[in-house]
Amino acid sequence: MQTIPFFDAVIIGAGAAGLFCAGQAGQRGLKVLLIDHSDKVAEKIRISGGGRCNFTNRDLDVRAPHKHFVGQNPQFCRSALSRYTPADFIALVQKHGIPFHEKHKGQLFADRSAEDIIQMLLAECEAGQVKRWQPCSVKNIAFLASGADGSSAGSYQIDTSQGPVHTRSVVVATGGLSIPKIGATDLGYRLAQQFGIPLVERRPGLVPLTFDGAGWQPYAQLAGLALPVQISTGSKKERMAFDEDLLFTHRGLSGPAVLQISSYWCEGAPLAVNLAPTVDLPEALQQAKARSRKLIANELATLVPSRLADAWAQREAEWQRPVNEASDKALAKLAEQLARWELTPTGTEGYKKAEVTLGGVDTKALSQQTMECKAQPGLYFIGEVVDITGWLGGYNFQWAWASGMACAQAL
Ligand code: FDA
Repeated sequence: MQTIPFFDAVIIGAGAAGLFCAGQAGQRGLKVLLIDHSDKVAEKIRISGGGRCNFTNRDLDVRAPHKHFVGQNPQFCRSALSRYTPADFIALVQKHGIPFHEKHKGQLFADRSAEDIIQMLLAECEAGQVKRWQPCSVKNIAFLASGADGSSAGSYQIDTSQGPVHTRSVVVATGGLSIPKIGATDLGYRLAQQFGIPLVERRPGLVPLTFDGAGWQPYAQLAGLALPVQISTGSKKERMAFDEDLLFTHRGLSGPAVLQISSYWCEGAPLAVNLAPTVDLPEALQQAKARSRKLIANELATLVPSRLADAWAQREAEWQRPVNEASDKALAKLAEQLARWELTPTGTEGYKKAEVTLGGVDTKALSQQTMECKAQPGLYFIGEVVDITGWLGGYNFQWAWASGMACAQAL
């Protein structure tokens, strides 16, 4: 009878968290198998950061994870993030001689390509003699009451398309649901359900927002226009706001400001957008009225992008006249509406366009030190499959590295 191979740990998902965890665990001397159903590794790293991978963020404040992470309990990630920091990952990138640069708000990108980060993670796996099976799908996972390695501790049998394996630890690193065409599946959530691990409802995050077709018609002409805004949502007490760029699209709004706010937006709730956050609009329009005979749209075009100025002035008859002929009330209304444009999205562009999945494995069920399930010894969840979602700007990868490291040290 053929003997079933044994590994100290089997990691499912060769993405950011899985590759990193495998390399670190292997380098601790553990016999590690890494499985992915795709024939390529880390497709999301490859397309991340516009192909340059925003691999971490220097501004991460580990004492206040709620400033960069969303989830039912953002404090959960504090332990892992404080033990493996952006500085630790930067040191690894430097050790591999990868050139990088800072872009905006602490965001670090590879100078050449995301491929550098992937090759670094593969080299780390190589150094840990990690065995990799790809493409390989998982058919079934069973918990065996007694240890398959002869020990009395429980272990697991995983039936895969390349045959069965036994292991002491199963690490689920299958990521979220976004971009299904490059390999995202719900396996991680199904495994959680199989073992009775609670899940927090999933929805797309860091995603463009869409609006009702007819209602959006006046703004569809602005598709392609980008401008800095302040965007906010939520009640006064729980208001979230971001100062970032907004992009008009044919179906709605996108750009960093909208992706960030989408992770906080609840269906049916309005957004408030200040389209000229750095301009004192009431004052500027009053000054224009005192010195100019130009059309309001032309004066407005000196304060906000001209396409926006034109589209906005078309909204009211009293805004389609020379600025010196406009009433104070009409100018005040114009200033107020530009500074507080209220609109309610009808939906999102969904997982096809989302960068991440909000929700996932409930952190209440996991140890924040090790990422192991409290009620299921030897079963771990790391990375995006967990109910921890980072802001745009390298925070999601930092969570993948930090949760992967916490797990690797505990295996
Ligand atoms: P990840 O998705 O990386 O890996 C999961 C792996 O599991 C994949 O290899 C997949 O094939 C495998 N898998 C899935 N189902 C399986 C199954 N049934 N059987 C076997 N294997 C299975 N973040 C950031 O910090 N900076 C950035 O610049 C960007 N940019 C960005 C751009 C775009 C377009 C997207 C979609 C996302 C980003 N992100 C990002 C988010 C970031 O990519 C994401 O949070 C991490 O990759 C999550 O790492 P994980 O390892 O958890 O999942």
